[in-house]
Amino acid sequence: MSLLVTNIGELVTNDPDTGVLLDAAVVLDGERIVWAGPRLSAPDADERLDAGGGAVIPGFVDSHAHLVFAGDRAGEFEARMNGEPYTGGGIRTTVAATRAAGDDELLAGARRLVLEARRQGTTTVEIKSGYGLSVEDEARSLRIARQLTDETTFLGAHVVPAEYADDPDGYVALVSGPMLEAVTPYAKWIDVFCDRGAFDGDQAREVLTAGVKAGLMPRVHANQLVAGPGVRLAVELGAASADHCTHLSDADVAALAGSETVATLLPGAEFSTRSPYPDARRLLDAGVTVALATDCNPGSSYTSSMPFCLALAVREMRMTPAEALWAATAGGARALRRDDIGVVRAGARGDLVVLDAPSYLHLAYRPGVPLIKTVLHDGVPQ
Ligand code: NIG
Ligand code: FE
Repeated sequence: MSLLVTNIGELVTNDPDTGVLLDAAVVLDGERIVWAGPRLSAPDADERLDAGGGAVIPGFVDSHAHLVFAGDRAGEFEARMNGEPYTGGGIRTTVAATRAAGDDELLAGARRLVLEARRQGTTTVEIKSGYGLSVEDEARSLRIARQLTDETTFLGAHVVPAEYADDPDGYVALVSGPMLEAVTPYAKWIDVFCDRGAFDGDQAREVLTAGVKAGLMPRVHANQLVAGPGVRLAVELGAASADHCTHLSDADVAALAGSETVATLLPGAEFSTRSPYPDARRLLDAGVTVALATDCNPGSSYTSSMPFCLALAVREMRMTPAEALWAATAGGARALRRDDIGVVRAGARGDLVVLDAPSYLHLAYRPGVPLIKTVLHDGVPQ
């Protein structure tokens, strides 16, 4: 069945040949886009969806989220708002709750967040493990994640769990050996939290290299808390993305600029940990490819909202509205090494968002307002 999305006031395609079109239309056939262009030359289709003069953008690509967990950490948030710093130490609280939860509870919680995100325009979401931290609990976290997305990431090296506190290298060996083997059928990516209080450069390298050997592709939690070795390691290993990038040296920026590694910025984490935002301008001006994602998790950033993160990026990180929208769609696609999403052109997936606003500018201009009118996912209105 084909579908004509018509009466589009402004169409953001992210296709350099097409750019932003006024008075446009898009035709989908099944789960794919088959045509995009001026409304008056649109081919006919079986059905019509009237965008009512609103803007249409590619669906958001949230390339960094931790959705398989139990419980929440509202008390930790309250303490932070009373002046406590964020250290990542609360991850162990969520690990205990996650281990105690049943499979159904974990799946229901993750599904609730995927649907919450979709209502806010997210049509692709990456989901990490990292709150199980045992062979069994990491494997089931990824089995659950796999039911909700193809973009699954093994983050066994999130922190060292309490039972390995005296033997961190033993834990690194477990992650790189039996745990990796158990999760490989369900994971596409491998990630390490390479930062103060988590894993150092050597440990991160060991885990990531083992993952690559097992056929997974690397991405790295890098330089969130300190300017450590994470970003340069990500570039050296050809990682698809270095995520957070809050504390960067000149050498880090230069390494990213000369690489295919995307810098994925997660302003929801700085908002919720009351930390200084990453310097997006420094990265963009150096020619680094920048993505925006939510980092949705119960500790450092409990939001599933890409429009919220986009508004933060514009207001707090001096990204232009156009740069922020690109980063939240095409940038996320680059961070997942995908060319079939984050773009509106023939052949791409039918992932579109119709806004209840005449321009995409309103996403940052009207923060906190529900502007997502209709979401099409794989060609199907949700
Ligand atoms: O990306 N920094 C490491 N991991 C998550 C936070 C996890 C948590 O606090 O539960 C992040 O911010
Ligand atoms: Fe994260």
